[in-house]
Amino acid sequence: MKLIFKLLAVAAVVAGLTACHGGQDSALVQEPTFDEIVASRRSVRSYDGTRKISQEQVREVLASAQEAPSWINYEPTKYYVAMSAEKIAAVKDAVGRNKDRLDGVSALIVTSFEKGKSGFANGEQRDPIGDIWGGHDCGLSTAFLILKARAMGFDTLIMGGRDADALRKIFSIPENEIVMAVIALGYRKEDPQRPRRRPFDEVVKFF
Ligand SMILES: Cc1cc2nc3c(=O)[nH]c(=O)nc-3n(C[C@H](O)[C@H](O)[C@H](O)COP(=O)(O)O)c2cc1C
Repeated sequence: MKLIFKLLAVAAVVAGLTACHGGQDSALVQEPTFDEIVASRRSVRSYDGTRKISQEQVREVLASAQEAPSWINYEPTKYYVAMSAEKIAAVKDAVGRNKDRLDGVSALIVTSFEKGKSGFANGEQRDPIGDIWGGHDCGLSTAFLILKARAMGFDTLIMGGRDADALRKIFSIPENEIVMAVIALGYRKEDPQRPRRRPFDEVVKFF
């Protein structure tokens, strides 16, 4: 009798360990580190159209972009998100030669920033470079956006090659906003090469 109990106990432990190991398998799928996210982010010019990103996921990406710092917390950056086939097609027609790089994207996000916000206080320009600070803050939000996207396993392409007037019409972007970039969001079809960077000491000076 004692032996049966012992055998049952051993079986229970083995079963428990197996279940535990099964549970650990999913836990072993580790979140990428910040450095891994940075290293694997690339400008992607070829997307896998069989995999789609949901609006919920795009919202999550943009919520992180909104966490970026900005001048006096003005948050001058705006996002216009094309996800319907019709709007995606319209935006593709406004990015010139970039169009050929966008088959299979899930979303095209147009960024803009409100003029007279960053670089200003109470409507008065507070710095000689004025609205360039708005461009700065928009770029900062974009950095958050592309890294959050990568952290979620997505890929991006920032496009400065775009027709700002056409985009303004497509999304009825008001005149007090400067249209910046179009950002493609999707899943990469293949791993892109890392373009070389300038020597570190050419861009960084310590004093
Ligand atoms: C402001 C800005 C505008 C860009 N415009 C384009 C563009 O119109 N078309 C394109 O294919 N890539 C564009 N890029 C992507 C750059 O070419 C790319 O970031 C650079 O070559 C470095 O490659 P990486 O992003 O893979 O590190 C742009 C990037 C930035 C930041």
